[in-house]
Amino acid sequence: MDKNMKLLLNVAKSVHNPSFYKCPGRDLSSLADSGLKAEGDGPLVIVGSRRALVRRLGTQVEVRTAFITEEEEGALLRELEPGLKKKRYEFDHWDDAIHGYRETERVTWGAACQTILARVRSVAFASGSSLLGPVHVLDLDKTGYIKPHIDSVKFCGSTITGLSLLSDSVMRLVKVDAPSEWLDLLLPRRSLYILREQARYNFTHEILKDKESLFNGQKVPRQRRISVICRNLPA
Ligand code: OGA
Ligand code: MN
Repeated sequence: MDKNMKLLLNVAKSVHNPSFYKCPGRDLSSLADSGLKAEGDGPLVIVGSRRALVRRLGTQVEVRTAFITEEEEGALLRELEPGLKKKRYEFDHWDDAIHGYRETERVTWGAACQTILARVRSVAFASGSSLLGPVHVLDLDKTGYIKPHIDSVKFCGSTITGLSLLSDSVMRLVKVDAPSEWLDLLLPRRSLYILREQARYNFTHEILKDKESLFNGQKVPRQRRISVICRNLPA
């Protein structure tokens, strides 16, 4: 995929304030539909610099744990691995937003994967919104990571959603015009994340490298990770 189409790397990483607010028991998956239920008994998946920030973003940031089953993860991997294995990981382009990766795009999928992707789209996008045809598949090596960036506003619309396969990871969002405002998202293996509107336009996002992969003070070991990302088109 053309890197210019996909990414707009435009913000240097700023100071990450360690004195963050913990948000016990808040499971954004339980908040997705009503927007009212702020406390759930699911796992903690989002922490931020301030409680008010997490509140304000509301359903613009979601992590849905166990969005796919092990069998569904297997179906996606069986379909993706043969093509990915033919490519080599890119490590040498230090100016790239992504380090230690290989990637592909896919338009046509087998039946099992189509069913999974239909479910992803139905929860992430408003019905009737126009989607970017090809699904983006990004395979990060164990040592790979994604630097802070904002996806191109020219080519991608207001919503970005991704499935995480093979590894847990931490996604960090940092507000472009106020870098002391940030959120960390725990992206467990087989979870789905959704970034919408402000979370997508006003914050950079990044995937932390193994060495820095901490969530709420706890190490989140990074293995090889494949993400399957769906985007919509600009309005
Ligand atoms: C990207 C990106 C996140 C992910 O490719 O622009 O931010 O989950 N990917 O891999
Ligand atoms: Mn991105």
